[in-house]
Amino acid sequence: MTRIFSGVKPTGHLTLGNYLGAVRGWVEVDQHRADALFSVVDLHALTVEHDPARVRRLSRQAATLLLAAGLDPALCTVFVQSHVDEHARLSYLLECTATDGELRRMIQYKEKSARALASGESVRFSLLSYPALMAADILAYRTDEVPVGDDQTQHVELTRDLAVRFNQRYGHTFVVPRATRPPVAARVMDLQDPMSKMGKSHESGAGIVYLLDDADVARKKIMRAVTDSGQEVAYDPEAKPGVANLLEILAACGTGSPDELAGMYDSYGALKKDTAEAVVELLRPLRERHAALAADPGYVDGVLKEGAERARGMARPVVDAAYRAIGLLPAG
Ligand code: AMP
Ligand code: TRP
Repeated sequence: MTRIFSGVKPTGHLTLGNYLGAVRGWVEVDQHRADALFSVVDLHALTVEHDPARVRRLSRQAATLLLAAGLDPALCTVFVQSHVDEHARLSYLLECTATDGELRRMIQYKEKSARALASGESVRFSLLSYPALMAADILAYRTDEVPVGDDQTQHVELTRDLAVRFNQRYGHTFVVPRATRPPVAARVMDLQDPMSKMGKSHESGAGIVYLLDDADVARKKIMRAVTDSGQEVAYDPEAKPGVANLLEILAACGTGSPDELAGMYDSYGALKKDTAEAVVELLRPLRERHAALAADPGYVDGVLKEGAERARGMARPVVDAAYRAIGLLPAG
């Protein structure tokens, strides 16, 4: 059976980008067709400045949202990364497989480290080694497919390179995984700045729809989205990035391609209104289920505990095999 692994970082509240680019596909497709694991990757949240209490809170919230979105513990494994030691254990071996040069070439590292330096913050060493940990997440489960948004494909490519290199040097240990992406909305853009990705922590939240935003708040953010000069509704991501983003979001919420939808509108206002309503309806059940689950943290904790046990059972033999292959003396 195909093995799938993916994860989400508890660095901020989950966004519409996370949902359309990743989580929805996990819920609607991946958990039904494969042996799938989905993780709140909390160790990754420590690669940038963080507040311990906030990370803890966001980790539980992210796990609750994944369940609210429809991940079913009877079908897939939902767990928190730091509950399974194998990730950190394997990460070190992959740091010993990767080169300094290839880690420094990662776009996310270049962008985030430049941003930190520009605002006078220091850059944590773990920001550089981050892709080795991500590769460990994936390789520890002999994962075949990694469903992610566009921004993560470079990291999955590196994971493939590391798996191939490790296997060649030390003997066949890892499955070489591949990234899969959603058919539309693989890169949802910020509504106020359609040239950059809708990320969890853009300076102001005005261009970001959070999954837990009230309906009115979400509606307003979409109605105030930056559009482009001209009047014509056309799907042209280069020339009209703001309109193209709205069309992609609308397409992802229902049926029809962004191109087809463009032909149905003759004003930006009408497009915004329909997109806002479609998003509000898409997120409504999710918000309601989140409220119900958040009232029962014992249930969520139970799911995470069971998930971690299952994940540990899968990862342990793979990571043990990697330890032996690379030349470490087995303990007893
Ligand atoms: P992160 O928030 O970085 O932990 O991302 C979790 C998942 O959501 C990853 O698969 C990302 O590629 C995906 N994702 C994050 N932001 C976006 C976005 N704006 N558009 C599409 N996918 C996204
Ligand atoms: N780096 C990913 C992100 O920023 C999160 C992540 C960590 C991940 N480990 C992973 C995604 C393993 C897929 C598989 O979104």
